[in-house]
Amino acid sequence: MHIIQHIPELRSQVRTWRDGREEVGLVPTMGNLHGGHMTLVEEALERSDRVVVSIFVNPTQFGPEEDFAGYPRTFERDCELLADAGVDVVFAPSVEEMYPDGGGLRTVVDVPALSGILCGATRPGHFQGVATVVAKLLNVVAPDLAVFGRKDYQQLMVIRQMVHDLNLPVQVVGAPVAREADGLAKSSRNAYLQEDERARAPALHEALRDAGARLAEGERDYAAVEAAGRAALAEAGFEPDYFRIRRPGDLGEPSGDEEELVILGAGWLGRARLIDNLAVRL
Ligand code: PAF
Repeated sequence: MHIIQHIPELRSQVRTWRDGREEVGLVPTMGNLHGGHMTLVEEALERSDRVVVSIFVNPTQFGPEEDFAGYPRTFERDCELLADAGVDVVFAPSVEEMYPDGGGLRTVVDVPALSGILCGATRPGHFQGVATVVAKLLNVVAPDLAVFGRKDYQQLMVIRQMVHDLNLPVQVVGAPVAREADGLAKSSRNAYLQEDERARAPALHEALRDAGARLAEGERDYAAVEAAGRAALAEAGFEPDYFRIRRPGDLGEPSGDEEELVILGAGWLGRARLIDNLAVRL
C-alpha cells in the first residue's frame, strides 16, 4: 500500500491504473477509522479494481466552536488497518496541499436546499465545507465510484445532489449503517462518550426504531411521533437537537403519499454529538 501526500503523484498513479483499464474506487474519510469505515472500504474493494482511501481532517467543515483541533488522529493505526484490508493507496494530503491559499477559498460548492436544515441548522457552513472538499477530492482522484456511509444520511444526500447538479462523472454508493451489538451506530465521536453515556447512547437507535414501528403500523401523526422521539432522547439524558421524519430523496416534509420515509435524529450526550437515521417502508 502506498501513502501519497501530493496531488500530482496521486493523479499520476490513478492515470496508470486507468491506462490499464482498471476501475478506481474512493473512500473519503477523516481517519480515526473504525468498523463503520471498514465496511465502506470493503464495499469499494468489492466494486472496483483499485481503492484509494483519503484521510483528511477537513478544517472547512468544522465550526469555530467545534472539535477540529481535538478530532482524534490515529494515522499509523489507520494505515495498518487499510493495508491489511487490501487498500492500494492512502491519500493523506496536508491542509496546505488541499488549501494552498491559506484556507481562503474563493470558490465553494454549496447545496443550499439541503444544507440549512437538520444538522445544517445548528452547524452553519458545515455542508458547504463537506461539499467543497468532496468536490475537490473527486477532482483530484477522479474515481469511478465513491463510497459514503448512510449514517451521515444528510451528507450523502448533499453529495448525491452535488454530483447530479455538477454532472460529476462518478457513481455515489451509500453503504448501510454499521452498528455496535447494542445498536449504537459506529462513529469516531463515540470515543468521546464516558462509560455511563456509552450505556445510554443506544437510546438514539431505539427511539428511531420505536418511531419506525409506529409509522409501519400506520401512525400518520408525524408531529406526535417526532415529539415522542425527542422525549425519549431527553429521557435517556440526551440534549436532543432534532428528531424528524422526512422524505428520503430530498429531505422535505412528507406530504402523506410516500411509500418510504427516513427518520433522522441527532443529540448531544456529554461531549459527543451523535446522529443516526432509519429508513422505513410504509
Ligand atoms: O464523513 C466524513 O468523514 C467527512 O465528512 C468527509 C466525507 C470525508 C468529508 O470531509
